[in-house]
Amino acid sequence: MTFDTHPRSSLIVALDFDSLSSALKFAKQVADLVGMFKIGSQLFTAAGPQAVKEIAALGPGIFLDLKFHDIPNTVAGAILSCAAMPGLQLVNVHALGGRAMLHAAAQAISAGQPMGADRPRLLAVTILTSMDHKAMREVGLGGTAQARAQKLAQLAKKAGVDGVVASVKEARAIRKACGRDFLIVTPGVRPKSVAPSAHDDDQARTATPTEAIRAGADFLVVGRPILAAPDPRAATQAIVDEITAAQ
Ligand code: C5P
Repeated sequence: MTFDTHPRSSLIVALDFDSLSSALKFAKQVADLVGMFKIGSQLFTAAGPQAVKEIAALGPGIFLDLKFHDIPNTVAGAILSCAAMPGLQLVNVHALGGRAMLHAAAQAISAGQPMGADRPRLLAVTILTSMDHKAMREVGLGGTAQARAQKLAQLAKKAGVDGVVASVKEARAIRKACGRDFLIVTPGVRPKSVAPSAHDDDQARTATPTEAIRAGADFLVVGRPILAAPDPRAATQAIVDEITAAQ
């Protein structure tokens, strides 16, 4: 799979909706302005593979953000099922599932694909961007988020994973540790233009689109700053313009 080089291709809009009809209604408004739509556990649980099919038909690629975390055999099966879905470009698992699980997922995403054929890319989630130092401590994760994320990214790369989901704050260190070809997808992106009330959410480690691109991110995931904007098309275009200026 080759990614388009237009700056809009770096923008992934998170379709965090509870029904396919509301997701479709929203996605249609911005489909020509974005590179991918992200379908997460809320929409997928409500609408299933039909959501992937109908959203993919709008044109942009699909990032299926289901963050699998289970025993290797079960995760491999889930990845195989995803890989057959239309328009799928990115799918992910939790790096904390460990080396064997990451390896099984990487094998599954390549299985059945003819040599050299485009295939979806596999990402690993390092540390959720909603977790701060205290939250990490509570689940037994010592050290800084940056150090943990870098180690997990290196583990994922060794296991054959194509890239990671990580916060902008961790992107630079991951890029240095894992090289140019390793994909970095950053959520927790908050444009400066967004009203302060929209910052009042659960993302503990946020950054602007400019900071994300400068830190080496290949893709930016944006949800609420676009979904909750009074004019979603204008909010989307403003982010694409910011990406263009930063590249
Ligand atoms: O609304 P907001 O811009 O915070 O949306 C971010 C999206 O990225 C959500 O769909 C969230 O589930 C997802 N995400 C994240 N942190 C990760 C992986 C995915 O915030 N580590």
